[in-house]
Amino acid sequence: LTDITALLLSRIRDVPDYPEPGVMFKDITPLLADPAAFTALTDALAALATDAGATKIVGLEARGFILGAPVAVRAGLGFIPVRKAGKLPGATLSQAYDLEYGSAEIEVHAEDLTAGDRVLVVDDVLATGGTAEASIQLIRRAGAEVAGLAVLMELGFLGGRARLEPALAGAPLEALLKV
Ligand code: PRP
Ligand code: MG
Repeated sequence: LTDITALLLSRIRDVPDYPEPGVMFKDITPLLADPAAFTALTDALAALATDAGATKIVGLEARGFILGAPVAVRAGLGFIPVRKAGKLPGATLSQAYDLEYGSAEIEVHAEDLTAGDRVLVVDDVLATGGTAEASIQLIRRAGAEVAGLAVLMELGFLGGRARLEPALAGAPLEALLKV
């Protein structure tokens, strides 16, 4: 383990049987409350944005906002919120996706992404990949390019990486931690 990996891991709390029995929830609030860990995380993700040649950061509501906004500031890039449906006042593009039970929909302001943008998507966790896949589809539909997906944590056993391969089309998927 590198120092930063160990630091980040030490600040993620495992909560058994949340939100339902059999699920181990990864709680990032101890990491957010620790300025050294939150700064190290922000710096690591901002370096990925720079390396990927990103021109904009997309954060996925809600936890992707907490991580993505400081990354955008640190990297000197604009921050674009991808929100759960019904929250954005302007003209939007929306994308529905399936959940384990039912479905969900996310939206972005259409004017926030245009041809010529290279967008790095930031979120806390990659699980099944459904949320990230829908965000990538939104970015492409807006005419922008996907620079990659950067997450704090990848839950490898859920197969999100394989699911995202076609959507990413060669763009990098970077996970600071694989659990
Ligand atoms: C969680 C997590 C990721 C997503 C990963 O968000 O923050 O965004 O699920 O799951 P997936 O890979 O299977 O799509 P969620 O909407 O549950 O909660 P949040 O609003 O707290 O981010
Ligand atoms: Mg989320």
